[in-house]
Amino acid sequence: MPNLVVIKKKIKNFKSHISVSGDKSISIRWVLFSSLCNGTSKAENLLISEDVKAAISMIKKLGIKVILKKNICKIYGKGFDGYNFKKNLVLNAHNSGTLGRLILGLLVNTDNNIKLIGDKSLSKRDFKRISDPLSKFGAKFKLKNNKNLPLKIYGSKNLKPIRYYENKGSAQCKSSVIFAGMRTQGTTIIKAKKSRNHTEILCKYLKLPVIVKQKNNFDEIRVKKVNKINKLNYKIPSDISSSAFFIVLTALSTNSELIIKNVNINPTRIGIITILKKMGVNIIYKNKKIYKGEVNADIKISSSNNLKGINCPISLNSSAIDEFLIIFLVAAKSKGVSYFKNLSEMNQKESPRLKWGSRILNMMGIKNVLTKNSIKIFGNPELKVNKKIIVKNFLKDHRVFMTSVIAALSFGGEWHIHDRDSIKTSFPSFLKIINKLKK
Ligand code: S3P
Repeated sequence: MPNLVVIKKKIKNFKSHISVSGDKSISIRWVLFSSLCNGTSKAENLLISEDVKAAISMIKKLGIKVILKKNICKIYGKGFDGYNFKKNLVLNAHNSGTLGRLILGLLVNTDNNIKLIGDKSLSKRDFKRISDPLSKFGAKFKLKNNKNLPLKIYGSKNLKPIRYYENKGSAQCKSSVIFAGMRTQGTTIIKAKKSRNHTEILCKYLKLPVIVKQKNNFDEIRVKKVNKINKLNYKIPSDISSSAFFIVLTALSTNSELIIKNVNINPTRIGIITILKKMGVNIIYKNKKIYKGEVNADIKISSSNNLKGINCPISLNSSAIDEFLIIFLVAAKSKGVSYFKNLSEMNQKESPRLKWGSRILNMMGIKNVLTKNSIKIFGNPELKVNKKIIVKNFLKDHRVFMTSVIAALSFGGEWHIHDRDSIKTSFPSFLKIINKLKK
């Protein structure tokens, strides 16, 4: 299959219902937690993407048996201290920051040193944000350029609990330190800016000694040493970050309506819903349910005629961090100016995403002002694209690819979008669902 997608036509109106694939953050966490359980854990609707496959390969290398059939997975945990591997082990996190960062928290106490590698994009990303707090526990690190992969971790049997202030709103940093705290005698105390809390929810469900006190702008998390984790059977809900592309496609199309089934709407993940509602998009939840501490629901969206710009509150940044690229498309079609600020974290993702947001808008002819950490977008409710646009060299960032496809289907023009393979990391069925809506 060619790795280039060419789109020459806007999508026609549609009324449909879809299911998107399993949540990536929960899938990766399920794999890691299950690798530490006593007994066999089973997941249904696990996201089968390259990031999750990398997690499965990684725990296999750590000596854990896994059987995967379609999207049903069984992991045969050997207990909290059950990892067992050869000397000079090399683990590959491929494209996944979540996997690369979370696994390090679980390796702080290993005997033999382990090398962690990743692909071109992951090798450009910041791992000092993880090695710094984990060094305080007593693990040692060697990083390329003091910051990047490849890195080597030398675990310690003499770990000390730490006090850690997580001020970026990064769930990856927070979760990695929670994992390291779970390996350490004594109480690790984390003060963390609000960010996705799937790790904490799983800890609570599994009755682990991880206590969260919610404060106004941050959470205080106290973590004690874990000895045993019971098996974790789980039905993974659909991913709001994958749903986001279809929410925006529907909002920008005329006379269209879409229901997305059983999506995880954890309050720390639904910044996109709050932002789009403020911009005038019609979105409602149906069939809300609590499942193992997570909130899931069907999401119903209909076309929106009167979109308006937003001065986006920075308090929503963390809960929408993966969705801003696609939100910028709504800003492009809104009346007035939209302003998104304090978003330097976007440039720490699979590609420098804030810059890519601006590039895509420039290609579409939408005026925008970009700084290191903010963007102002001058919307045009009459926006129609009539030219040829080529999107390439975006470090295979899946979200840049999918945002470009939604822009092409929403605004017209002739789009040549490279690296379709990039969707394999998070949402392999993305183009199949687009084809379903085109029928
Ligand atoms: C994730 C956390 C976020 C997010 C990423 C998934 C997670 O990253 O961007 O896609 O599963 O913990 P940061 O924690 O670095 O903000």
